[in-house]
Amino acid sequence: MSPRLALDAVAHGYARGRDALRDVSLVIEPGEQVALIGPSGAGKTTLLHTLALALPPTRGHIDWGGRDPWALTSSERHALRRQCFLAPQHPPLPPRQRVVHAVLATRLARGGLWPALRSLLATPREADVRDAFDALAAFRLEDKLWLRCDRLSGGERQRVALARMAVAASPVNLLDEPVSSLDPVLGASALAAVQSDAKARGASLVVSLHDVNLARASFTRLIGLREGQIQFDLPASAVTDERLRELYGAEFGRAMAGVALPEDDADALRLTVSGCA
Ligand SMILES: Nc1ncnc2c1ncn2[C@@H]1O[C@H](COP(=O)(O)OP(=O)(O)OP(=O)(O)O)[C@@H](O)[C@H]1O
Ligand SMILES: [Mg+2]
Repeated sequence: MSPRLALDAVAHGYARGRDALRDVSLVIEPGEQVALIGPSGAGKTTLLHTLALALPPTRGHIDWGGRDPWALTSSERHALRRQCFLAPQHPPLPPRQRVVHAVLATRLARGGLWPALRSLLATPREADVRDAFDALAAFRLEDKLWLRCDRLSGGERQRVALARMAVAASPVNLLDEPVSSLDPVLGASALAAVQSDAKARGASLVVSLHDVNLARASFTRLIGLREGQIQFDLPASAVTDERLRELYGAEFGRAMAGVALPEDDADALRLTVSGCA
């Protein structure tokens, strides 16, 4: 059973600059699936890392399954953090590591540092290899099981990072731009695979996405973040193009239509067209 996560008026400020999160309040119910959208720099990664207890709030309060993680000892907080699978925006994969070890690393690392090191050196157990194979097959990567990670394409690396999620089997899953390097077909099927894995396990899933159409098609709840603040937290059906224009700016409609011209070029084009008419 995944824990209920609640943020109450949470802010996070990095050492320099203005707060990356401001007055963020939200609840992720156990087993819920949520997409996080918003312009670059809006604070999506900061929010995911805050939920993962990797960043402390500089203001506000977090409730993690009825506990205040930042009032706990660091070892107690680490125990909560281990309930969490975070796929970073740029997943680090050790270049010389084989894919099979990379997929199994999260499971083996649970036993502490030495098991993690052993997982790099030892031959994995047959049952573990089978799990890694199955996890990779969900992302059409089963033939890469024994390949070195530095031989993978960008999109394959991203899918290996996702295959880790099923093996880690964590109750809370936070994926930061997990399909940004994938073509539209693979991206949609990879997202569907992680969603069905989370659903089958009753695990929570929070995913940041730049592809708003994919977010609207795949999730029933969307949170729009802009300049560190929640601009909307709505069912997908209520996330209209008008809402998205408010979130991303007036250029949103044209960008979606594939005619995102700078204002000057657009004016020039209009003049040329009317001049021809
Ligand atoms: N380590 C850091 N130190 C200082 N400022 C940071 C740090 N990480 C992020 N920021 C700033 O915090 C703000 C939010 O960044 P964040 O990475 O959360 O945005 P994002 O929504 O994930 O953007 P993107 O879509 O480009 O990944 C940005 O203004 C960024 O410059
Ligand atoms: Mg980010």
